Amino acid sequence: MHYYFFRHFKMSLFKQIGRGLNREMTLVDEMGKLFPAIDVFAMSIEYLVNDMMLIVEQRVTAQLRPEEIHWVIAVPAIWSDPAKQLMKEVASKAGIKKEQLTIALEPEAASMYCRHVPVDTAVDADDVTIAQFPEGTKYMILDAGGGTIDITVHEVQDENTLREVVAANGGGWGGIMVDKAFEDFLKELAGKDVFEQFKVQETEDWLCLQREFEVKKREIRINSARRILMHLPASFVELCEKERKLCFTDIIALTRYAELVEIKRDKIKISKIVFFYLFGDPTEKTVMYVKRILNYNETKDIKAILMVGGFSESPLLQHAVKEAFPEEKVLIPSNPSSTVLRGALMFGHNPECITERILKYTYGVNTTMPFKAWRHPIEKKSGHGRWGPM
Ligand SMILES: Nc1ncnc2c1ncn2[C@@H]1O[C@H](COP(=O)(O)OP(=O)(O)OP(=O)(O)O)[C@@H](O)[C@H]1O
Ligand SMILES: [Mg+2]
Repeated sequence: MHYYFFRHFKMSLFKQIGRGLNREMTLVDEMGKLFPAIDVFAMSIEYLVNDMMLIVEQRVTAQLRPEEIHWVIAVPAIWSDPAKQLMKEVASKAGIKKEQLTIALEPEAASMYCRHVPVDTAVDADDVTIAQFPEGTKYMILDAGGGTIDITVHEVQDENTLREVVAANGGGWGGIMVDKAFEDFLKELAGKDVFEQFKVQETEDWLCLQREFEVKKREIRINSARRILMHLPASFVELCEKERKLCFTDIIALTRYAELVEIKRDKIKISKIVFFYLFGDPTEKTVMYVKRILNYNETKDIKAILMVGGFSESPLLQHAVKEAFPEEKVLIPSNPSSTVLRGALMFGHNPECITERILKYTYGVNTTMPFKAWRHPIEKKSGHGRWGPM
């Protein structure tokens, strides 16, 4: 069958952002095939547009015309102007007219949402929301996504305005690093070559296993049961046994997981220690990154850490952040994964609550003309004294 399969492609763009984006840029799919990046993005947006129209058609009795919709695309704060421009072109390729599109910054959307939600939903344990913060208060938005951990520090200016103090992008330590660690764990059990063979020959089973892992990944917490039970595809076990010429129990016994993993028919029981280990790297790196940003002069006095993004839903990450920063208030809205989306929606309705950003560039033009005594009134003269050179 002729198809391409792209996952986490925003990450591939992230690597290119520093080097400048261009229209000829290509992305590599899961099987190593190349395809123009701009088309992958345009097709994804087009799919979302069509899907939304379909759902609205099913649920809303009144007809919604495409020209009645304003679209907001949220992008990371560190994205350069050419990257935002490229996003506009992509949206236009997907059929969104430019006058019906706004590009918003993800952390601003998150901040906006959290400043407007009612007190009881914006807080985790204590009774604080960022809406109550007085002028001059600085807080950090820790957006832990699938690919990247993005950190932005905002300072409250007045009721409606925020100032961006720091915007940083922490690279790839998001939730998919846990998925990657799970893949490495399976590779260690099966052997690298056998695992690669499984991925290619039994792609459907591999996707099923990934989906099941996603469920378990979301369920795991500090006080979870000692062992986590998962379905292991028969094709995986059979392939391992055939290629390694051993039964699966003996294969496990040869690895460092001998005491931690057990197989029973089509089920695998994994100790929660292994699961904690899978989360280890991304949580530690996230904490270190927050520490690094907190060492900057302009962020020393921050009052709270606001955790948003899907990976921020993880009780393990929440625990790690709270433990590492006991003196900061850690605020977690009740729906971290959709905070940016909800904020972008508010932004679309009220673009006036624009915030002040540190400008990436400033442009100046010379507006002062050299003083000519026979032409210009003396009271308008400035610099070098009133009777200086003409
Ligand atoms: N309850 C949960 N526990 C653990 N991880 C979770 C939970 N809910 C979502 N995730 C993880 O969060 C990630 C997705 O987060 P999000 O939707 O914020 O990413 P994104 O915005 O698409 O990515 P990025 O910001 O890197 O571009 C996935 O890796 C997913 O597995
Ligand atoms: Mg995100």
